[in-house]
Amino acid sequence: MLRLQTPLADRYRDASPDELDEMIATAKASLGERVFILGHHYQRDEVMKWADARGDSYRLSVLAQERPAADYIVFCGVHFMAESADILTGDHQQVVLPDLNAGCSMADMADLDEVSEAWEAISELVDIDRVVPITYMNSSAALKAFVGEHGGAVCTSTNARSVLEWAFTQGDKVLFFPDQHLGRNTGISMGYTHADMRVWNPRQELGGLEEDDVRDATFLLWKGHCSVHQRFTPNHVAAFRSEHPDGIVIAHPECSHDVCSIADQVGSTDFIIKAVAAAPVGSTIAIGTEIHLVNRLAAETPDKTVVSLDPLVCPCSTMFRIDGPHLAWVLESLVAGEVPNQIVVDPETTQWAKVALQRMLDITQGNPVEAKRPTAV
Ligand code: 13P
Ligand code: SF4
Repeated sequence: MLRLQTPLADRYRDASPDELDEMIATAKASLGERVFILGHHYQRDEVMKWADARGDSYRLSVLAQERPAADYIVFCGVHFMAESADILTGDHQQVVLPDLNAGCSMADMADLDEVSEAWEAISELVDIDRVVPITYMNSSAALKAFVGEHGGAVCTSTNARSVLEWAFTQGDKVLFFPDQHLGRNTGISMGYTHADMRVWNPRQELGGLEEDDVRDATFLLWKGHCSVHQRFTPNHVAAFRSEHPDGIVIAHPECSHDVCSIADQVGSTDFIIKAVAAAPVGSTIAIGTEIHLVNRLAAETPDKTVVSLDPLVCPCSTMFRIDGPHLAWVLESLVAGEVPNQIVVDPETTQWAKVALQRMLDITQGNPVEAKRPTAV
């Protein structure tokens, strides 16, 4: 999705790393408690070192909500995360994304029109009140609102299982978007099989399915994926194991089921960090996730050998857009009284997206869940 980022002034583009550090440190100190910088685990080190808090997409959404004193949340992550922060924070708080072109190709694989069309087509074949829409956090605010309005919830890779278990207390079929892999991996970990799942291709009539497929499927999985995680293959696992027969393979659930089914452990970025910490000293661990997190874990865990499952893995190109020059620019602009790159979700979208996000938070935290269908809300 094209979002126009203003080119940076030469002052930022030409600055050395030391000069950028100086600008960021000075601006951050001058803003004090008024600014809260959040960093997703896939951010580069030059950015991550300035984060007041790090996390996966679930933890960052909780943290954003827990800082009402900060006027500005500078979100070092991607667009959908900044939108979620805007939805969950107070009206007095402004969320800033340092580079507007930091989107997510997976999130862009499902849009509101496509999902609404799918919903309508499905409703012609089955009792739509028994279908629960679940969207991965990696989706636009508009899709989160759709889900909130239609009795569903958001999930992240940390809580996908709890959210799906909840979904099956609300209905007997799930439309899961946009990441087919997270849906499939989680469903299979819950005891469902491939036969319970069908892939919905939004580019084809009726998702490319027969009517009976739609009626029979327990999971309708949107044909979306993460280009970073989809690169990991079973051959990478085999190559690592032949070199390190006692090595440990940990994969993010955005990887294909072929990879996750043979990995030793599967989980979100927060899970991966904890799994590396818990592994025995001296172990060799291959990780199937974004390279900045893998490299950081390798550097921070000198008593273990941490490598990427794919030796040639690419970084997430959109996460990579957030860099020192953009961070320096937004912080200095805030000091000057301007709010650049503010991410604002309109009030109606916010209202329903908040319902879907709050359901996720309540399910994950074990709170009672407000789960009524739209007519009763
Ligand atoms: P988590 O932060 O939920 O592990 O997700 C990874 C991801 O791809 C974020 O874009
Ligand atoms: Fe999107 Fe994949 Fe990048 Fe995460 S790693 S932001 S899912 S493209």
